[in-house]
Amino acid sequence: MTGMFITFEGGEGSGKTTQIVRLAEHLRRAGHNVVTTREPGGSPGADAIRHVILSGAAEALGPEMEAILFAAARADHIALVIGPALARGDIVLCDRFHDSTRVYQFLDSPLDRGLMQRLERSTLDDVYPDLTLILDVPADLGAARARERRGGGEIDRFEKEAETLHERRRQAFLKIAEEEPERCIVVDGAQPIDTVAAEIAEIVDDRLDAARFEAVGQSLDASRLVR
Ligand SMILES: Nc1ncnc2c1ncn2[C@@H]1O[C@H](COP(=O)(O)OP(=O)(O)OP(=O)(O)O)[C@@H](O)[C@H]1O
Ligand SMILES: [Mg+2]
Repeated sequence: MTGMFITFEGGEGSGKTTQIVRLAEHLRRAGHNVVTTREPGGSPGADAIRHVILSGAAEALGPEMEAILFAAARADHIALVIGPALARGDIVLCDRFHDSTRVYQFLDSPLDRGLMQRLERSTLDDVYPDLTLILDVPADLGAARARERRGGGEIDRFEKEAETLHERRRQAFLKIAEEEPERCIVVDGAQPIDTVAAEIAEIVDDRLDAARFEAVGQSLDASRLVR
C-alpha cells in the first residue's frame, strides 16, 4: 500500500499554508492519516543544509553547488519524512516542493535546465508528487496579503519592483501546470478561503476515489492470475 503525495505551490501570499491546514482537517475528518510538511526544511538534515545556504557560506561555491545543496536537503526530507509516510499509506501534504525550486532557483539563474533535470531525477527518483495544487493569485494580491500578514504599511518602491518578478514567477508556475496537466491543477486562490478549500477538497477526494478504484482493479487482476 502506498499513500498519496500532494504538493502545494504558488507565490507568496497565495494561500498555501492556509489551505494545507484546511485540507488536513478535511482528510483527517474522513479518517485518513495525514502528514504535513514543508520546504525548504522539513527534516533536521534539510534544515541544517538550509542554514548553511542562508548563512552565505555556500555562496563562494557558486550557484551550481547551491543547487546541489538544495537537492541534498530535499533528498534528506524525502528519505526521512516523505518516503516513510507514503510507505505507511499516509497522505503527505507538502508546502512547496520541486516546482518552487524550478521557479525560484532556476528562473533567472545561469544554471541550465539540464542540471535542474539531472538533480530532479536523482532526488525524486521514487517519490514524485501524485498531485500538485498550484494556487494562482495576481501578483499584487499575493503581495498585499503578505504585507497585511506582516502588519500592514504602505507599498514601497521595492515592493512595486518586486511585483514584476512575482508576476514572472506566477507565469512560470502556470507554465509548469501546462507542461504536466496530469499532475498539476491550478486553483484560483483569489476566491474566499472557504471556496478555495471546498474546491481543493473536491479535487483531492476525486483523486482518492480514483486511486481506490485503481487499487481494487489491480487486486481483481491479481486474484485472476492466482486462479
Ligand atoms: N483566499 C483567501 N482570501 C483572503 N485572504 C487569504 C486567503 N488565503 C489566505 N489568506 C490570507 O493571506 C495571508 C497569506 O496566506 P498564506 O500564509 O496561507 O499564504 P502562503 O501561500 O502560505 O504564503 P507564503 O508563500 O508567504 O508562505 C494570510 O494572512 C491568510 O490568512
Ligand atoms: Mg506559507
